[in-house]
Amino acid sequence: MRDEGIPERSVEDLGCGSGGFSVELLREGASTTVGFDLAPNMIQSATQLALLNGFGATAKFQVGNAATAELPPSDIVIMDKVLCCYSDWQPLLKNAIATSRTMIGFIVPRDEGIAKPAFRVGVRIVNYFARRKGKILFYLHPLDRIDKTLRSSGFTLKKKQGSRLWLVFLYTRPEGSR
Ligand SMILES: C[S@@+](CC[C@H](N)C(=O)[O-])C[C@H]1O[C@@H](n2cnc3c(N)ncnc32)[C@H](O)[C@@H]1O
Repeated sequence: MRDEGIPERSVEDLGCGSGGFSVELLREGASTTVGFDLAPNMIQSATQLALLNGFGATAKFQVGNAATAELPPSDIVIMDKVLCCYSDWQPLLKNAIATSRTMIGFIVPRDEGIAKPAFRVGVRIVNYFARRKGKILFYLHPLDRIDKTLRSSGFTLKKKQGSRLWLVFLYTRPEGSR
């Protein structure tokens, strides 16, 4: 994202959690950030974090479902480990696409490569215990269809990086092509 340019750009942080990513982007020079999360306690934490870091005037966080909320247009949209926490990836991604002027960055579980079968077994086990506790499950959405959806909206894959558990994607499209 640094290579593509963060300064003076507006950010939307979908599934912002406690706002860490938003605050980092403001530190990198982003003009404003708006965060949405389903969980009111996350919005409270994110608001506090922004205030503590001196971004009270440029960061706004609100409770909402990013798949259905009317989102303000933003230059950059991020979804850090969010698609995998929501059952219905299509409306969430489509809303992100509709609102992003030029960049969409997201992080999802590493559901590819030779470790994919073992990874899927691990996720099933985690989901089994999560379900017993009535918690959010871990969804593995089809990466090829996510890619196809982004490409058909004019985005191209700019960068992809992986860690042992996660894949980080950055898609861009020319400004004004929305
Ligand atoms: C694993 S946490 C990641 C939080 C944050 N992005 C981070 O990386 O620290 C996923 C968050 O996404 C939120 N979330 C999941 N689906 C959402 C949706 N449709 N709209 C808004 N928030 C959502 C959850 O409430 C949760 O706080």
